[in-house]
Amino acid sequence: MRMRRKKNLESRLNDCKNILFEIRSDDKNFSTAINNKAYFDYKEIFKNDNPVHMEIGCGKGQFVCEIAKRNPDINYIAVEKSANVIVQACEKAIEAGLTNVYFVKGGAEYLPCFIPDKTIGRLYLNFSCPFPKKKYANHRLTNKSFLKLYEMMLVSQGEIHQKTDNMHFFEYSIGELSDYGFTVKNVSLDLHNSGFEGNIVTEYEKRFSDLGQPIYRLEAYLK
Ligand SMILES: C[S@@+](CC[C@H](N)C(=O)[O-])C[C@H]1O[C@@H](n2cnc3c(N)ncnc32)[C@H](O)[C@@H]1O
Repeated sequence: MRMRRKKNLESRLNDCKNILFEIRSDDKNFSTAINNKAYFDYKEIFKNDNPVHMEIGCGKGQFVCEIAKRNPDINYIAVEKSANVIVQACEKAIEAGLTNVYFVKGGAEYLPCFIPDKTIGRLYLNFSCPFPKKKYANHRLTNKSFLKLYEMMLVSQGEIHQKTDNMHFFEYSIGELSDYGFTVKNVSLDLHNSGFEGNIVTEYEKRFSDLGQPIYRLEAYLK
C-alpha cells in the first residue's frame, strides 16, 4: 500500500536539499542507471576524508542522528525509500546541527549507481521490513541480491550490523549471510538482556521491546 504524501512535503524536502540526495524517478530503470553511474564525492559532501558508514531503511532517523552525534569522526549515509519519513530524519539532523550525515531518498537497489565501490566500512540494517511472504523474499534487505550490492559497497572486511524483532527473518538473515560467505559473529537472541553496551534504540526497537519482544542482533563480516 502506497502512503499518501504529507502536506508541504515538497517544500520540506526542498528545505533539506543541502543534506539530501533524491534518486530521481528517471533513475528508476536500474539497467539505465547502472550504466550512468554518478558516484558521490564524499570529500565534497562531508568536507573531510573520514570513514563512511551507512544505514539502510533509516526511518525517521533516530538511530542515525544519535550515532552521528556520538561519532563526529565518522560520516554517515542514511538511505530511506519513503519521502514521508526521510524528511523527518533530515529535519532531525538539521535541528541537531549534524554535519556528518547525508541522506539518500530511494531504494537500496539503486545504491551501486551512487556509492563508489569498496567505500563503506559498516552497514546498519535496523528493523528492516521482514516481508514474511515467501514470494516477496527478494525484497528482504538480507536477500542474496542485496548482499551482492553490499559486497560491492563494503570495504574489505567491512561489516553489517543487523537488529530485528522477527525471529524468522533473523534466522533467514543468518542463513543468507552465511551462504554468501560472510562470517556471522556476536549473535544475540535477547539484546536488551545481554549486557551489550552502547546500544542505540531505534523507533521500531522501542515499539517492539515495549511489547516485551526480544531483540535479535548480529554482526556479519566480509571475508
Ligand atoms: C520497519 S522500518 C524501520 C525503521 C528504523 N530503521 C527503525 O528501526 O525504527 C523499515 C524502513 O525501511 C524502509 N525500507 C524498506 N525497504 C527499503 C529499501 N529497499 N530501500 C530503502 N529503504 C527501505 C521502509 O520505508 C521503512 O521506513
